Amino acid sequence: MQKSVLVIGSEGQIGTELCDALGVQGNRVIRADIRLQTDEAKLHYQLDATDKEAIERIVEEHDIEVVYLMAAMLSATAEKHPQKAWELNMQSLLHVLDLAKEKKIKKLFWPSSIAIFGPDTPKKNTPQETVIHPSTVYGISKRAGEMWCAYYHSVFGVDVRSLRYPGIISYKTAPGGGTTDYAIEIFKSAKGQGRYTSFIEAQTITPMIYMSDAITATIALMEAPVESITVRTSYNLDGLAVSPQKLEEEIKRHLPDFKVDYATDYRQAIAASWPESINDELARSDWGYTIYTDFQRLVQEMLTHIE
Ligand code: SER
Repeated sequence: MQKSVLVIGSEGQIGTELCDALGVQGNRVIRADIRLQTDEAKLHYQLDATDKEAIERIVEEHDIEVVYLMAAMLSATAEKHPQKAWELNMQSLLHVLDLAKEKKIKKLFWPSSIAIFGPDTPKKNTPQETVIHPSTVYGISKRAGEMWCAYYHSVFGVDVRSLRYPGIISYKTAPGGGTTDYAIEIFKSAKGQGRYTSFIEAQTITPMIYMSDAITATIALMEAPVESITVRTSYNLDGLAVSPQKLEEEIKRHLPDFKVDYATDYRQAIAASWPESINDELARSDWGYTIYTDFQRLVQEMLTHIE
């Protein structure tokens, strides 16, 4: 059935591809982002995600049923602008949660992240419920957001759903300010200069998924019947175990002269504080989370498409 959906952060790495996928499914997609968009054929608003009245105007004007709040300041940038990160990541969420509480929208998606986990969390097969002491501003905002989601669900009955995304690898829209961004830059450099200087150590593993799997998971979660949703903080999602060294080895099978050298910076400590693999049993059993794109295929796709 056609729905009117609002995607806030529509011009970002995930937002752009999510809008396309929601459109293909027959939804009426309204895009909003702080950045202006050049494609006039698309219904688009310039929006500051911390402006509740502006969000509300769009929701009312278009009879929006579902909101995807994808605007956020990511981990590396947030370390440089803690106050701004907190304001953006929290205010935007509280605004849309309130709209749901006031019954102005029916359903809400909000992404959390593997960044909620900290250095004292079990690194392998990280459980859904475990020690959660995030060591970054971004991680703190995501964990706090998870608790707000659970609170609005239990106290006000808000249907808010969330995923703890692994790092997301894609070629259509560049990410900005994340720690896992290296896993995208490396492909650009491989095809361009044939060399890449990594700010993450060779053997630091973080879970990552290909964008199409992230989008499929997001839509599957949002379409699942309400009674199948048993997690109202945010679902653990595992990914492929990716490190700079693994990427270098696989890229070399296509481009034998490719070379990576290392100049790590503050982002290394961030990546090292995150898990290597995640227990995502609940996502699999509750609504069928599946990874369709394996590591070899991901590398091949990235090398084919990235510019
Ligand atoms: N990929 C994000 C980042 O690196 C984590 O959610 O900030």
